Amino acid sequence: MATQVPCGVRIAGCGSAVPEKRLTNADLAAMMDTSDEWIRQRTGIRERRVLDPDRGESQLWLATEGLRTALDDAGMAGSDLDLVIHASVTSEMTCPSNACRIAAALDAQPAGAFDLVAACCGFVYAMNVADSLIRSGRYRSVGVVGCDAMSTAVDPTDRSVAILFGDAAGAAILVRDDDPNRGCIHQTMNADGRTWPSLFIPRASSDLPAGREDSGARMGTLRMDGREVYKFAVGKFREVIEEALSTTGLAVDDISQFICHQSNIRIIESAMDKIGLPAEKVYVNIDRYGNSSAGSVGLCLDQLWKAGKISAGETIILVAFGGGLTWSSGVWNV
Ligand code: COA
Repeated sequence: MATQVPCGVRIAGCGSAVPEKRLTNADLAAMMDTSDEWIRQRTGIRERRVLDPDRGESQLWLATEGLRTALDDAGMAGSDLDLVIHASVTSEMTCPSNACRIAAALDAQPAGAFDLVAACCGFVYAMNVADSLIRSGRYRSVGVVGCDAMSTAVDPTDRSVAILFGDAAGAAILVRDDDPNRGCIHQTMNADGRTWPSLFIPRASSDLPAGREDSGARMGTLRMDGREVYKFAVGKFREVIEEALSTTGLAVDDISQFICHQSNIRIIESAMDKIGLPAEKVYVNIDRYGNSSAGSVGLCLDQLWKAGKISAGETIILVAFGGGLTWSSGVWNV
């Protein structure tokens, strides 16, 4: 029987895509009872990007462009991939998966392809799964893309959610590496499904939690208990980062970047404050892109990567929380 040779995982390239169309706080204030000052103070967001359907833009297009740029960065073609994992809560259809259509657009057949649903944790979950599959010895190269077009999943008149979200894709190409210490050296994927009514997208009124008053936003758009999610996120960010550091025996000084889901600047700053993370190690782009759900962490990763802020030999931590409620981390030796 052949012996399995231990292997590691290398990030061969990163990519991202955002629509050109900007939606500023002033644009939102013209559409609903809100203000630039309220949004900036409560969330740190100044503007977000949104699809322009008049230009033929769609979630599928955005995700495909994200993964295409990652392939370009890696110097690889779609046909070099063994597997495509696409994380999203805003895919056009449940069948086929958007992963299959992304793989087709990039000429990746017969690579395996599947969608993964973990809301804002989608990219971190997908990176963890891809790393594990490569280490199993079954796959050599996996394309991971997290992408959400939240503009298609919020009621534009619901000020409690419409101000928070934007559209983006973030992607990475992971390949087998001979060094077993390279890649994801620690990962967590958690969920507490009992808390699902804090953040969900009902398709029909029968999906609404029994006995709870509904906002009246149209079906197919997000419902959120902002205060509950805020409390959950502040606690989890700290817990997940501290757990990742203590399990790996690493200190804050050993980590070059803490790449956190961009949900609210106050949530990120609270984690920085409580754990003592220096500002130069915590990338923030929520002011320009808002919360792009499964796109967020991959978008940050790509912007840091392209800016030369992540180099081989460094260690980074990816952290996210989201609908489910879910929370997840990955400690990566790049
Ligand atoms: N503009 C102006 N006022 C608004 C508003 C808006 N867009 N949205 C809500 N308000 C009002 C509320 O009606 C409320 O008014 P009241 O005091 O008269 O009742 C007041 O502002 C405060 O609302 P509240 O919900 O307590 O604000 P907040 O400080 O909790 O901020 C969020 C709201 C949504 C920004 C915040 O709770 C949050 O970020 N939660 C986490 C959300 C998140 O991360 N979701 C994604 C998870 S992946």
